[in-house]
Amino acid sequence: MHKPLYHYLYIKSPIAKIAIGILALVVTLAVLGGIIVTEVPRMEAQTANWNGRSIEKGAALFASNCAPCHGDHGQGTMNVAPALNSKYWFTHRLDDLGYTGSQKSYVLLTVAAGRPSKVNSQWAQRMATWSRNYGGPLRDDQIDALANYILNWQESAVEQTDEEDPWQPFDGVDTGWAGVRAAEAGITETVGISDTQTVSETAEPRAPEVLFVNMGCSGCHNLNEPQDENTPHLVGPNLGNLAEVAGTKVPGEDAETYVHTSIVAPNDFVNPGYLPNLMPQNFAEQMTPEEINALVTWLLDPNRPQ
Ligand code: HEC
Ligand code: HEC
Repeated sequence: MHKPLYHYLYIKSPIAKIAIGILALVVTLAVLGGIIVTEVPRMEAQTANWNGRSIEKGAALFASNCAPCHGDHGQGTMNVAPALNSKYWFTHRLDDLGYTGSQKSYVLLTVAAGRPSKVNSQWAQRMATWSRNYGGPLRDDQIDALANYILNWQESAVEQTDEEDPWQPFDGVDTGWAGVRAAEAGITETVGISDTQTVSETAEPRAPEVLFVNMGCSGCHNLNEPQDENTPHLVGPNLGNLAEVAGTKVPGEDAETYVHTSIVAPNDFVNPGYLPNLMPQNFAEQMTPEEINALVTWLLDPNRPQ
């Protein structure tokens, strides 16, 4: 009988069959192994890329929605909003609150729902509700991106020294951070940073330029730009030409009286185009009368060093 052309492919020897079978298996496993070995880094790269994009999106959202209060690097603004880019915040904050979930879940919950009340709160404004689910402006994926952006500070924040930690000025507000740091340093009698925030009659008066930063004024006011329609302003009016305009705003009030009142009772006169209640209402409790007078003089000094 005539053999078909492919008769050479018939293998008679059982040993050869087994050998070829094993060889085929080994080759298949090797190929599979190769795919797995390259797939893992490929997936990791993919995930990193995806996280990177989410962090970028979060950074943009933070700059436009959160930075006015929390600072452009998350360093916080006195009287306005606490620091987030902070060693304390990443290492002790949740313990102090007794919150047992993850840092990310804490951010997601706070940002989504906000903080409902500002009763007994030292902050000028409450933290708003951001999630669409609760009537806010942001989608869930945007809030997730914000959380990824904030958490991406962790690695460098935990390396901060206590002096570098921007939480410091907020200390003693509702945390025991001063106590924690004192305990770690072996100090039993705590003299917290918080002491600088309450008015102490015996302490040295603080300099106006220090108060301007520590009281959060600089977070809302541009000190060196003049007030006119063309200069962009922050949350509050520019103070660059305050000496010229202060005496013209309220009939019967000279510049000193006007600026003094603007600080201790901001709502007595609300500048057109600005919101009332934004400026903290309790500066008279946070500074001594002497300090406030010096601040007024300093703000009105046309030769104030820039
Ligand atoms: C109007 C100012 C303001 C804006 C804008 C703002 N926050 Fe806040 N935020 C606050 C205040 C005030 C608190 C503290 C509230 C409290 O403890 O009662 C806070 C608290 C937080 C906390 C919790 C901090 C902690 O340790 O308890 C997170 C996280 C946070 N904000 C994230 C954000 C993000 C993200 C945005 C932007 C989408 C944002 N905030 C916008 C004022 C603001
Ligand atoms: C949370 C933001 C915020 C902080 C913090 C803040 N201010 Fe203001 N400030 C405002 C806003 C908003 C206005 C405009 C509304 C009004 O006229 O009351 C204003 C108005 C003023 C005015 C009147 C300016 C003008 O041209 O009429 C002065 C002066 C002033 N602030 C000084 C200060 C000083 C000093 C501090 C710190 C001790 C301070 N502010 C802290 C938001 C803030």
